[in-house]
Amino acid sequence: MTRPGVSVTNVAAYAGVSLGTVSNVLNRPERVSPATRARVLQAIEELGFVRNEAARQLRAGRSRTIGLIVLDTGNPFFTDLAGGVEKAASENGLSLVLCNSDEKSDREAHYLSLLEEQRAFGILLAPGVELPARVDEIRSRGTPIVLVDRGSSRTQCSVSVDDFVGGQLAIDHLLERGHRRIAFVGGPLGLNQVADRLRGAREALQRRGAGAEDITVVETEALTFASGRDAGERIAGLSVRRRPTAVFCANDLLAFGVLQVMTKQNLAVPGDVAIVGYDDIDFAAAAAVPLTSVRQPRTQLGQTATELLIEEATDSTTHKHRQVVFSPELVVRESSARKRSR
Ligand code: RIB
Repeated sequence: MTRPGVSVTNVAAYAGVSLGTVSNVLNRPERVSPATRARVLQAIEELGFVRNEAARQLRAGRSRTIGLIVLDTGNPFFTDLAGGVEKAASENGLSLVLCNSDEKSDREAHYLSLLEEQRAFGILLAPGVELPARVDEIRSRGTPIVLVDRGSSRTQCSVSVDDFVGGQLAIDHLLERGHRRIAFVGGPLGLNQVADRLRGAREALQRRGAGAEDITVVETEALTFASGRDAGERIAGLSVRRRPTAVFCANDLLAFGVLQVMTKQNLAVPGDVAIVGYDDIDFAAAAAVPLTSVRQPRTQLGQTATELLIEEATDSTTHKHRQVVFSPELVVRESSARKRSR
């Protein structure tokens, strides 16, 4: 008896194997040991799973390569995320091609078209400010796209972190350390991740009031080390009375830029200016002044997005789109550890 809605994910869980093993039993049984194959076939039988043959044929012409388009391959956040994609892809007999949009919409469009033309197995996209219309066009033509590092509507899969909470964590921490004049460094402010972090920061400030001034926003052109240095110069150039005693940066690369300038200007971190970053990339702990940062589960983001993509690509008829949102975590280190005395 065939039960509607039984998916390959159900079969994999029931048999205690990966999605890729179920796919191999269905498409390349010679790659699976007889014992495992028997277990999967039994699960298919007992669950009443029926493969969507049309979807399989549509996929038959597909490559076994996933395309991952990220905003900046120079940012360890994305290379760590790509590591999670590669791990999940290789476990399922798939390969990865990494594309750098460099935060430019024309590059992003170029790679989306290229991956569709190359019949990519599916696309993982960390989009820029605007989600391009061609995302829906490409999906309607049969190439699944999962958004990563960005939330989505219920009609598309996405994997992200609750950046609003991340902003709250950073500011609550700085307010608890006695800071009342705080700056936010980040941009472009139209990028969802940046906007949500700033929104959370502002909520924490308003919620805790405590005579704190409104947050000073130092908008940057990009989320890079160079942009962090530019912002650091602007902050260090302020008079002591106007200079913030704490800086919350939208990512760790910005924070490293601010940290370098403070050090060059003989401003003590955290004594004169405390700094909090975002992502908690490996260099955060290794920085000259170990950096407090809001941690994102980068590898897990990549793995989860890949698993959603494989499930959708393997059986689009039973697949249910999901928006997975992870929680951020504050990792406190020397750059903001000390309580303000005055
Ligand atoms: O795109 C740049 C930033 O957004 C990364 O550093 C990470 O924070 C991501 O969410």
